[in-house]
Amino acid sequence: MFARVLVIALFSLLPLAAFAADPHSYAQPDQVVVRHVDLDLAVDFGKKTLHGTATLDLDWKSPFATQLALDTSALHIARIEAVDAHGKTTPLKYALAPADKSLGSKLTIETPDRPARVRIAYATSPDASGLQWLDPAQTAGKKLPFMFSQSEAIHARSWVPCQDSPSVRFTWQAVVTAPKGLRVLMSAPNDPKHALDGKFEFTQAHPVPSYLLAIAAGDIDVRETGPRSAVYAEPSVVEKAAHEFEDTEKMIETAESLYGPYRWGRYDILVLPPSFPYGGMENPNVTFATPTVLVGDKSLVSLVAHELAHSWSGNLVTMASWRDGWLNEGFTTYVQGRITETLYGKALADEEVLLAERNLQKEIGSMPANAQRLAPQPREVDADDELSDVSYDKGSWFLRTLEQKFGREHFDAWLKSYFDHFAWHSITTEQMLDYLKPNLIDKYPGKMSWDEVKEWVYGTGIPKDAPIPDSPRFDAIDKERAQFLAGKLPADKLDAGKSDKGGWNTQEWMYFLDGLPDVPKLAQVQQLDAAWHLTGTPNAEIGMRWYVHAIAAGDKTVWNAAAEHMTRIGRMYLTLPVYSAFAKTPQGLAFAEQTYARAKDGYHPITRMAIERVFAKAKAGSKAEAATL
Ligand code: BES
Ligand code: ZN
Repeated sequence: MFARVLVIALFSLLPLAAFAADPHSYAQPDQVVVRHVDLDLAVDFGKKTLHGTATLDLDWKSPFATQLALDTSALHIARIEAVDAHGKTTPLKYALAPADKSLGSKLTIETPDRPARVRIAYATSPDASGLQWLDPAQTAGKKLPFMFSQSEAIHARSWVPCQDSPSVRFTWQAVVTAPKGLRVLMSAPNDPKHALDGKFEFTQAHPVPSYLLAIAAGDIDVRETGPRSAVYAEPSVVEKAAHEFEDTEKMIETAESLYGPYRWGRYDILVLPPSFPYGGMENPNVTFATPTVLVGDKSLVSLVAHELAHSWSGNLVTMASWRDGWLNEGFTTYVQGRITETLYGKALADEEVLLAERNLQKEIGSMPANAQRLAPQPREVDADDELSDVSYDKGSWFLRTLEQKFGREHFDAWLKSYFDHFAWHSITTEQMLDYLKPNLIDKYPGKMSWDEVKEWVYGTGIPKDAPIPDSPRFDAIDKERAQFLAGKLPADKLDAGKSDKGGWNTQEWMYFLDGLPDVPKLAQVQQLDAAWHLTGTPNAEIGMRWYVHAIAAGDKTVWNAAAEHMTRIGRMYLTLPVYSAFAKTPQGLAFAEQTYARAKDGYHPITRMAIERVFAKAKAGSKAEAATL
C-alpha cells in the first residue's frame, strides 16, 4: 500500500536526525521542515469544533521544492496564505486529496516562492478522530461540557494541519478562547492559578513531535501536589486524585537521581472523564490519565511513573517512526520499573514485571513472526497497531537483560548518557544501536555478544536466557491457584484477604486471575464470587480479568455487572477484552451489541472503532464457521 522510499537527509541543525520517509505521514520533511507552529483557536462546544488558524514556520531543505505537503484528517479548510516578514499575506492555491481511511487527506499547498510562513484557516469536524466532545450529562459534574484530545498515534492531524510524523519536531505557541468559567489546558507549562476568563495562552519552548500536541477544556479544578506539580480534574474527582498522586514529586526526584534533571519545568496530571481511551498519555508538562487508576490505595500509580518516565524516554529522546515505537515504550516501561522499585520496593516492581513477562510469554508465540520483533520489517499496519506488548514488554525485558549483564552502575551510566546524547532528537533503532555498541557492549567485553543484542532487537520470540525475577508471593499464588483448580482448596481459604491485612494486593489479584484457565469451570467461578465478591468490584483491572473469565465460564449472573463496567469505562485496554469475551457466543454477542448501543454515545471515537472491529471480527468468524459446516 505505501511505497517505503528511504530518503535519508541529514541536515545541518539537527545532525542526529535522519528522515526516513514515514509510511504513516504524507509530509516530506526532506523538502521542508515545520520548525514552529502558532495556533489561534476557539473551542466551540455548540458546534463541537475547534476553529481558527495554524501558522507554520518553514525551513526549506530543497531549493527546488514548490509544494508543502501536510497531514490533515476531516479538517475544513477555509483559506491558506503565505505570510511575509511584515505580516503581509498572499493567498496560496491548495488541494485536499480524498481521505485515506487511516492516513486522512493529504493537503498539498502550492508554494513556488518557498515562503517562510504559511497560515491555514480551518475548523475541525465534530467527529475528529483525535478529539472527544462530552455533553454536560456525560461529565461527573453534569453541568458543563468537556473536551479533550488524544493525538498519539496519528490523530494530531484531525485537529492541527501538520507534518504528523514523530521525526519532525517543532516549538509551538497557542492562544485559545473558550467559554468563561471553563479551564483550558495544553501540553505546555500550565498555570494552576490562571483565571477562568475565557482566554488562555501557551508556549511550548522545546521542540516536540506532533503526537505530543494536546488540549483539554472543561470544568477543571486543580490541587497542587508539590512545588512543580499539580493535579487537575473535575471538581468532584480532584481531591481523590490529589491523594492518589501525592507521591508525584518523589517520583520526579527519583527519575532525576537516575537520569538527570527533569527538563520541562512543571509536571502536572490531568485526570479525564472515564471515556479517556488510554490509561495515560505522556503529553509534555501535563500527563493525561484515566480515572480508573483512582482506586484509593495508590496500587495503580505505576501509571504515573510510566508517563513521567516518558519525559526522558519518548519526549526528550523520541522514536523517529512508529516502527521504532519500542524506543519510546520499552525504554519507558524499564524506567517506570526503576521508579516503582525505588518508591514502593522491589517486591512490587518485580510483580509488575512478572505480570507483563508471563503475559508476553503466553501470547508472543501466536503473533505473526514479524510482529514478534522489537524493530519489525516494514509492514502494512495502522500506526496505532505498530505499538504492541512486544514494544513495551519485550523492549523493557531487553533493557533489564542489559542491566543484569552489565550491572546497574554501568547500565545506568549508559542510559543517562543516551538521554543526554540524543536529547531533543528523534532517532531510529539503528541510531540507538550505534550508540549502544561502543558505549556499553564493546566497552565492557565478555558480558554480552553483539549477536545476542541483535537477537533481542531483530529476532522473534523471547531469547532463552531472558532473566525472570523471583516473586515468592506470586509463587505462593501459583500453588494456591493450582490447589483451588484441583478442588483441594476451597475458594474462601485462598490467602486473598484484604491487602492491608497481609492478603493480596491489586497486582496479586491480577496475577491470580490471569493464571486461571481461559475457560474456567462454572462452579469454580461461582465459588470465587461467593467468597470474594468480585462481581461489581470498583477496581477495573480486577474487574476486567474477572468478567472475561466469568463470561467464558458461562456465568450469566455477571452479565449485568459486566455491562455496567463496559458502559462506565472507555479505557480500551479495560473494556475491549470484556466485549471480546461476550463476542465468543451468539447470545453474548447480541448482549454486547445491545450494551454498545446504549454506551456508544459516551465512548471516544477510537474506542468506538475498536469495538466495532471486535464485532466485525466475531461476525466474520462465525460466518466462516458456518461456511465450513
Ligand atoms: N504513549 C502511551 C499511550 C499510547 C500508545 C497512545 C499508543 C496511543 C498509541 C502511554 O505512555 C502508555 O503507554 N499508556 C499505558 C500506560 C501503562 C503502560 C502504564 C496505557 O494507556 O495503558
Ligand atoms: Zn507509554
